[in-house]
Amino acid sequence: MPVREVRIIMGEHKEMSEIIIQIDGKEVKAAEGMTVLEAAQSADIFIPTLCHYEKLEPYGVCRICTVEAEVRGWTKLVAACLYPIEQDLVVRTRSEKVDKIRKMILEFLLAHAPCSPQLQDLAQEYGADKDRFEKESSFCFLCGLCVRYCAEVEKKNAVGFVNCGARREIRFILEIALKECNSCKECFPLCPTSYLQAAFVLTESLAFPRDSSQTALMK
Ligand code: SF4
Ligand code: FES
Repeated sequence: MPVREVRIIMGEHKEMSEIIIQIDGKEVKAAEGMTVLEAAQSADIFIPTLCHYEKLEPYGVCRICTVEAEVRGWTKLVAACLYPIEQDLVVRTRSEKVDKIRKMILEFLLAHAPCSPQLQDLAQEYGADKDRFEKESSFCFLCGLCVRYCAEVEKKNAVGFVNCGARREIRFILEIALKECNSCKECFPLCPTSYLQAAFVLTESLAFPRDSSQTALMK
C-alpha cells in the first residue's frame, strides 16, 4: 500500500501518495503522478533524453529514453518521459533490449543530424554506427524543443512545424520572428543540432535579402 503523507502547499492541505518503485535494483521513493524519468532523476539515475525539457510538457517523440518496465510480471518497453510510476513498478534503464533500441534510434537520428554533439556522445556510449542509414542531412530531427519552448514558455509561436511526413520541418514565422526573436533567442541553446540557428539566419536573409549582415536582427 502506498504510504500516505499530508503536505502543506501554498497554505492548503494536499494529500500526496508516496510510491515505492525499483530502478536498476535500487529502491526509489517517488510521488504519485511522477513519470519514470522524474523518479529516476530524483534518485540521480541517468536516463538519456533528447526531446525532453523539464519546463515543457512531455512530448515523447525521440524514444531515446526507452526503458524496460515490469508490472505484475509483465515487461514492456516504455518511454520513461511519459510513463507514470505505479506501486511496485520495476524499471531497468539498461538491458540488451533497451541498448539495442537506443542504438538503432541513434543511427536513424545520426542520418539526419550527423554533427550533433549530443548524438555523437550517445552514439559512442551505445556503439551506434553513424553511417548505418543513408544520410538525409536535414540537420533537424524534429525534437520540437524550439517549437514547444516558444509556444509553451514564451507564448510567442515564432517558430513552428510546417509540412507533413518526410517534408516536415521547423520554420520561423517571419512576421513574429522579426518582432520577437532578437530579444529572446532562449530556445537556441535547447537545440541539439545547429539547425535552429541556421534556420534563424535563413529567416534573416529572407527578410533582408540585400545585406543581412547589416540588419537589426543581426545585432
Ligand atoms: S531545430 Fe533543433 S530544437 Fe528545433 S526541432 Fe529541430 S533539432 Fe529540435
Ligand atoms: S526524451 Fe522521452 S521520448 Fe524523447
